[in-house]
Amino acid sequence: MRILVTGGAGFIGSNFIHYWLKTHPGDQVINFDNLTYAGHQESLQDVEGNPNYKFIKGDITDFTIVKNVMSGIDTVVHFAAESHVDRSIIDPLQFVRTNVLGTATLLNAALEAKVKRFHHVSTDEVYGELGSNDPPFTENTPYSPRTPYSASKAGSDHLVRAYFETYGLPVTITNCANNYGPYHDPEKLIPRFITNLLEGQKVPLMGKGENIREWLHVQDHAEAIDLVLQKGKIGETYLIQGEEKTNMEITQMILRILEMGGSMIEYVGHRLGHDFRYAINGDKLKALGWVRKHNIKDELPKIVEWYKQNEWWWKSLKSGRPNIDRSVQQSYEPKH
Ligand SMILES: NC(=O)c1ccc[n+]([C@@H]2O[C@H](COP(=O)([O-])OP(=O)(O)OC[C@H]3O[C@@H](n4cnc5c(N)ncnc54)[C@H](O)[C@@H]3O)[C@@H](O)[C@H]2O)c1
Repeated sequence: MRILVTGGAGFIGSNFIHYWLKTHPGDQVINFDNLTYAGHQESLQDVEGNPNYKFIKGDITDFTIVKNVMSGIDTVVHFAAESHVDRSIIDPLQFVRTNVLGTATLLNAALEAKVKRFHHVSTDEVYGELGSNDPPFTENTPYSPRTPYSASKAGSDHLVRAYFETYGLPVTITNCANNYGPYHDPEKLIPRFITNLLEGQKVPLMGKGENIREWLHVQDHAEAIDLVLQKGKIGETYLIQGEEKTNMEITQMILRILEMGGSMIEYVGHRLGHDFRYAINGDKLKALGWVRKHNIKDELPKIVEWYKQNEWWWKSLKSGRPNIDRSVQQSYEPKH
C-alpha cells in the first residue's frame, strides 16, 4: 500500500510514520510537509535511509504539487495543520488558509486520484468547552468551536464530511484529545514545561491551573488511526479518548519528576477565549476494539527522560523563538 501522510514532520505525524513503518513494513510511506516552524525533518532522521520512506516538501494549499503527490496513493492520513491555539489568536487567517483551504485542496486531489481512503485527523476542540459537570463529547455533540484554531479545524471536518456526502469520497475522521509523547515541539504545554525546568526557568501556568484537558499518548493515537483505517465505517467519525487532568495536575506531576517545587510556577493570565474543559466519550472507537494502553502517570517520567536525553532535538528549536503566549493572555477572572 502507498500511504500519503500530510504533516509527517510534525509531532503526531512523525510519531505516526515511525509507528507505520514499524508495524506495516511492506508499505510505502510518503511524507508531504512544507516544514513550517512546527515541521522538523530531524524527527525522522532514523528512517531517512528506509527505501519505503520518502519525504516531499510542499504546501497542501498548492493544488499543482498536491495533485502530483496524490497520484498512485491508496490512503491519505491528513495531519498537516496549523495547530497552536495561541498562534491562531495572533494570525487567524493563516489557520483558515492551511486548515480549511489546505484540506479542501487535498480533498479535491484525492477525489481526482480516486484514493481508497482519506483519513482526516481532527481535534475534540471543535465541540467547544464543557463545564465541570457536563457529560463528555460524543460523535453527535454539535460543533461549537470558540477559537480560530478550533473553528478552522471544524471547517476542515465539515469539508471532509461534505466530500463524502456530495461526491462519495471514502473518508473517515478521528477527533482526539491532547497528545503527549516524544518529538513534541517545545512551544506546547508539556514539552514547554519540561524544557523550561531543565533550563532552570519557571513554567507559565494560565489562571490557577484549573482548566481541564484530556491527554492521549501519541502511540495510542497511532493505533487508533490504524484501527479506523482497518475497521472504521466509511463516512463516520470516531472520538479518541484520553485521561482527564487539570493543568495544575500535569504541572505538579512534571515538578515531582524533576524534584522541584511550586516556586517554579509562574501564574499568568488566561489566553483569550481559553476553553475550560474538554472530555471525550470514546465508546464508539472502543466498540471497534481500541484500548488505551498508556497512562500519563507512568509515561510522563519517560517523556521527561526523552527531553533530557535529546537536547540536540529541542534546544535549537527553543532558542530565539518569541514567547507566543505572552501576546494572547488576558487578566480577567475565568467564568468557572
Ligand atoms: N497535538 C495535539 O495534541 C492534537 C490534538 C488533537 C488534534 N490534533 C491534530 O493533529 C494534527 C497534527 O497535530 P500536531 O500536533 O502534530 O501538529 P504540528 O503543529 O506539530 O505539526 C503540523 C505539521 O504540518 C505541517 N504543515 C503546516 N502547514 C502546512 C502546509 N500548508 N502544507 C504542508 N504541511 C504543513 C508542519 O510543517 C508540521 O510538520 C493536526 O491536524 C492537529 O489539528 C493535534
